Amino acid sequence: MVKLIGIKKINIAVFISGTGSNLKNLISHSLRKKSRYKICLIISNNSKAKGLNYAKKHNINKKIIHYENITNAEKTILKELKRNSIDLVCLAGFMKILSAKLIKKFKGKIINIHPSLLPKYKGLNTHQRAIENKEKFCGCSVHYVNSKLDSGKIILQKKVRIFKNDTAEKIKKKVLKQEHILYPKAISKVIVNL
Ligand code: GAR
Repeated sequence: MVKLIGIKKINIAVFISGTGSNLKNLISHSLRKKSRYKICLIISNNSKAKGLNYAKKHNINKKIIHYENITNAEKTILKELKRNSIDLVCLAGFMKILSAKLIKKFKGKIINIHPSLLPKYKGLNTHQRAIENKEKFCGCSVHYVNSKLDSGKIILQKKVRIFKNDTAEKIKKKVLKQEHILYPKAISKVIVNL
């Protein structure tokens, strides 16, 4: 935690695997005058993740994690979290599953954004499955990470209407827009308890 004019700033690490639109949005929120947090570290399992470009642009530390061996990968992750004095981990399109051991070490301090109204549609291809099931609503959820996939306590959710002609791609865009509103709100809610 960095103390700035009497305000404690929470140090956040964002984990990504791809585009990083949520990361980009969280960085821009963190740069607001009254922000209570700072993005200090970007971690990716994918050296080609587009979102890694935001590290250079905003002068944020980054680390690419090689996942051939999960034990070694997570050792490196823990080392980086310590080195950067991270208080909260935000998974944002990170497509690797963290081990129960790592989650335990960072208990209550890892959150994730998922593109569905959990507990519905855990895992992948959420929008396509919602269309196939003729759902009227889809959405996004921010939740604490526990050892079961997409199953931790829900922090916030936002519903998005599915219309007749919506494709998975259309829904993805609509939901992403809501994710960018939801994730900063969820972080604000969580950091008061850290
Ligand atoms: C987001 O829609 C996020 O909810 C999803 O990946 C996308 C990442 O987009 N996460 C998952 O599916 C995790 N199970 P982004 O890279 O543009 O932030």
